[in-house]
Amino acid sequence: LGAFTGPTFNNHDFTSYAPDTPERALLSQALQDLKKSGPQEVHPSKKGQITGQLTATQKCPFDHGTAVARYSEATPEIVSDAIAGALEAKKSWPKTSLVDRAAIFYRAAALIEGPYKYKMMAATMLGQGKNAYQADIDCVAESVDFLKMFPSLAETLYKAQPPINGYGVWNRTEVRPIDGFVYAICPFNFTALAVNLVMAPIIVGNVVVWKPSPGAVYSSWLFNQIMIEAGLPTGVLQFVPGDAEMVTDAAFSSRDLGGLHFTGSTAVFRGLLARIGSKMDTWKSYPRVVGETGGKNFHLIHPSADIRHAALKTIRAAFEYQGQKCSALSRVYVAASVADKFRSILVAETNALSMGEAFPDFIGPVISESAFKRVSGYIRDARDASDIEVLAGGEYDDSKGWFVRPTVVETKDPRSKFMREEIFGPFLCMYVYDDKDFGPELFKLIDETSEYALTGAVFANDRAAIIEATEELRFSAGNFYINDQCTGAMPGQQPFGGSRSSGTNDKAGSLDRGINTFSPEGRLFQV
Ligand code: SER
Repeated sequence: LGAFTGPTFNNHDFTSYAPDTPERALLSQALQDLKKSGPQEVHPSKKGQITGQLTATQKCPFDHGTAVARYSEATPEIVSDAIAGALEAKKSWPKTSLVDRAAIFYRAAALIEGPYKYKMMAATMLGQGKNAYQADIDCVAESVDFLKMFPSLAETLYKAQPPINGYGVWNRTEVRPIDGFVYAICPFNFTALAVNLVMAPIIVGNVVVWKPSPGAVYSSWLFNQIMIEAGLPTGVLQFVPGDAEMVTDAAFSSRDLGGLHFTGSTAVFRGLLARIGSKMDTWKSYPRVVGETGGKNFHLIHPSADIRHAALKTIRAAFEYQGQKCSALSRVYVAASVADKFRSILVAETNALSMGEAFPDFIGPVISESAFKRVSGYIRDARDASDIEVLAGGEYDDSKGWFVRPTVVETKDPRSKFMREEIFGPFLCMYVYDDKDFGPELFKLIDETSEYALTGAVFANDRAAIIEATEELRFSAGNFYINDQCTGAMPGQQPFGGSRSSGTNDKAGSLDRGINTFSPEGRLFQV
């Protein structure tokens, strides 16, 4: 089944959408078309048929009076049907050769690169509140990367099972899909994460029941349509948007739940684990669980760092996509001797960021009313706290879209809630440390306040400082970067994932093997 040699994997190029380029014109047209056509209709798969009433709305974060999609929410019956359809498909999908499965993946990649590119871009921009660059690296580049990379990862996995033969004995090992279906719960923040969560299990013969995020229903549905058009057999991927509790209850009550593939909040994941733990006699097999959850990611600025570079990378890590990447930066430790310079660049450049829906705007809205309330609540708390100074931003306005100005605060308390709690929005907290504390004391402080361990970075030119930080902070971050921002892991280059309250440590974009490499940009990834 696994005999297959795919093309060499290369990351997809990014598109600039610079003024006067054909790409910019095509994207503008797609955005206009989507706005003009009004809300898109989205339905769950039910044995391949359209079904249900349009009961729910995906609002446009730029303008919450506008709907991007109206969708019908799955009922328990629809989820049961979807599971039955998936199990039916399971009879043949694992028997399909890897080369045939791969052909479907490559076809889907070509559809995203070709006829669907601008539709996907418009769906991700208007539906999830992204600017063109953030949408491009997500729903085009990273999605295509996953689709092209998974077949070759599967090939490696199939090849990696050595048969052990004694005299007169012939053994073989096989990589089997799990016994049952995989239930995938996807987040809003990356269209590519839906691709990752549903397609990684599928390449090795699994079938998937997929609950998309309410904040990404339309781009998820488009991707589902792309997979159908690419030839994925009916039932292999079952799209069931709907109320999270209800869909999860229905999926968890099936005896055939074989795996949970989750990206989302730590609290929700813990609830799911607790439910799985308390229902073990429900299922045929112990469900395999892969979860990627929250983060409180950090940059550490050493006195030897290139301060302008560190400050600009800090802004990008904290505020790209409004700080709503699981990898996003939300706390920065700066050495006292360079703090004034760092602070003045950070504040001036943050204040210069433009916010809105126009093409060059760097900052868009947060995803929803509840995100707006959460982030603006932290801003109010920071204003009220006596030991916190608001250095930049601090304004918010939900009259049209859910807009929060990128906000930088400075605290004198390195254990304050702003240095520990996940805020998941455009909010950065800075703490100035004494230069002489760089070393065990500072590393201990960072580690002790790292309930999460997803991403981190050190900025330094002093090689000894880099090595020390890399060694000592290895348990405070899954992905650790040197002189580079803590966001933007590339499939195939920096597998992505964390430990502690950030996830189960299985890596997106790898075979979950520990690796430790420097890339040309100086990134270090380690498990
Ligand atoms: N993989 C993304 C990043 O590294 C986050 O999910 O930014």
